[in-house]
Amino acid sequence: MIHGNDITFSYSINTKDPPIINHVDFNVDAGEFIAILGANGSGKSTFCKLLNGLLLPQSGKLTVADIDVHNTDKLWELRRKIGMVFQNPDNQFVSSVVAQDIAFGLENYEFSREEIDKRITQSLEMVNMQGFENACPHNLSGGQKQRIAIAGILALHPDIIVFDEATSMLDPIGRKEVLDIIQQQKAFGKTIIMVTHYIEEAVFADKIYLMHQGTFSAYGTPFDILTNSERLIQSGMLPLTVVKLYEDLKKMGICLEHCPITIAEFVEELCQLRQKM
Ligand SMILES: Nc1ncnc2c1ncn2[C@@H]1O[C@H](COP(=O)(O)OP(=O)(O)OP(=O)(O)O)[C@@H](O)[C@H]1O
Ligand SMILES: [Mg+2]
Repeated sequence: MIHGNDITFSYSINTKDPPIINHVDFNVDAGEFIAILGANGSGKSTFCKLLNGLLLPQSGKLTVADIDVHNTDKLWELRRKIGMVFQNPDNQFVSSVVAQDIAFGLENYEFSREEIDKRITQSLEMVNMQGFENACPHNLSGGQKQRIAIAGILALHPDIIVFDEATSMLDPIGRKEVLDIIQQQKAFGKTIIMVTHYIEEAVFADKIYLMHQGTFSAYGTPFDILTNSERLIQSGMLPLTVVKLYEDLKKMGICLEHCPITIAEFVEELCQLRQKM
């Protein structure tokens, strides 16, 4: 679904500076849920903007849903196939009425009025915001705003959805609501790219790309990536609390059979240990 080979990007024209995206490869299969984890300033948002043609790679080859991102004739087709949800929901509205805001994205593609109305209803249902058609986005809670922004993307029926720190400005309830929508969209077969620096959110991904200073310093399953605390620290991330506990217990001579990556797994390991005692 996404094939990136040896991609570089730099904001600066000074070629002595290392590129912000520094010769990276990136491959995602259709229907995969990929998390991109990385510290502040590691290049995550820049990378996402390359995926939908907001920025263009200066070298390398990048195809997204069979479209070469350098093919500017296909830019609108590309943007319909890959939807982006950003960090701050307030920056994502163009209208003061929810239904008009969702319609705006669709009107760019010349859908019939009937089709637009159908898609508004469907997408609001998907984010559990039915009945809010006439609300003003600015009067909604942070979580509700983000769900409306997501509805605007879902209405375009994209194959791929990129969530760039989409939960980072939300309270725990808002975060959970958005994470539930991400899981729901994955279950519907969408390809998901979720950028986060909440390491515990990456646990649910199929694969994780770990980003560090413009390169991918590691790629693997959540277990591969999240149980390697040393590599996470080298990439500017804090290890998972349950992995830290596993390691601390090990140092004290208490060895759990498997390293857990969720609290539920940690409790399970402790119960098994207790049974053996
Ligand atoms: N428009 C821009 N012009 C120049 N430099 C930029 C621009 N946007 C980002 N940068 C620089 O590029 C680097 C990567 O930024 P980017 O926003 O991609 O990182 P990030 O991993 O998304 O960070 P965060 O976790 O804070 O969102 C940073 O050093 C940043 O200062
Ligand atoms: Mg960012």
